[in-house]
Amino acid sequence: MPDLQNVIELIYHDIIKHKNYGEVASYIPELAAVDSEKLGVCLTTVDGQVFHVGDWQDRFSIQSIVKVLLLSLAYNKLGGQLWQRVGVEPSGTAFNSLGTLENDEGIPRNPFSNAGAIVISDILIDLYEDPRQAMIDMIRSVSGDPSIYFDTKVAASEKAEGFRNVALANFIKSLGNINNGVDDVLNLYFDCCSIAVNCEQLAKVFLFFANNGQTPDMNNVLLNPSQTKRMNAIMLTCGFYDEAGDFAYKVGLPGKSGVGGGIVAVLPKHFSIAVWSPRLNEKGNSYRGLKFLEKFTTETKLSIF
Ligand code: DON
Repeated sequence: MPDLQNVIELIYHDIIKHKNYGEVASYIPELAAVDSEKLGVCLTTVDGQVFHVGDWQDRFSIQSIVKVLLLSLAYNKLGGQLWQRVGVEPSGTAFNSLGTLENDEGIPRNPFSNAGAIVISDILIDLYEDPRQAMIDMIRSVSGDPSIYFDTKVAASEKAEGFRNVALANFIKSLGNINNGVDDVLNLYFDCCSIAVNCEQLAKVFLFFANNGQTPDMNNVLLNPSQTKRMNAIMLTCGFYDEAGDFAYKVGLPGKSGVGGGIVAVLPKHFSIAVWSPRLNEKGNSYRGLKFLEKFTTETKLSIF
């Protein structure tokens, strides 16, 4: 193993020397208030080491990264039956696309598009008495950090402006793939997207994907090893929407991005790494986050390929 603290510090200093590109997400007004120049990183290993640099202690909005956790909660209870409601194919379309739903009878191509995560939210309402609480309990328990919270301002901001998701949910319901009320489904989805985490919390939450579905302290078993393999496969093929191929090509790790500027990635059996930098490229993925991870896996040769 290379000296990971030294590696992440060198890459961090190199990246902040170069010009930053992209725009902070503003279609959720509350997200536009963030300092666009922040860059934080935290890497946690399955054998208990933690490395960090930059603004790793700052909280940011988890946004689409939570889709992986929504799916885990549903998959854990339903198993393979879940795939009757949502597919596992990369969409090649933007995260908020309405594109293929009509031809596919309301079955989203994969669970990480907004359409897919909205269907998963509907499934969770049927599976859990209080799915919102189940989600925050899971995140707090897996990270070992009870301070993680819903950012109600971000959630309210998205509820006020989330017309595209309202359209998606209504469209899917009209095609028969949502059982519950559209407002209940969207409230759950928006609340989960609003969860505030820092890089260390996020890396720790995702460490079970590097550890066969359980936390390294063995206190939480979220998925079995086969399910974990499949979740990592979906992250690799669908985690970055129409930039998933580019991410696999340049970074070579399963991962997931969010419009809050976070990216989390996993090297199975070894580590999870969370990077946060708010400016997004035109595909909605963090510009510096992608740069950081590309340099990291290239320089350390730590990737799945
Ligand atoms: O539904 C939305 O549009 C947001 N709550 C999440 C989108 C997102 O994070 C896309 N990721 N890059």
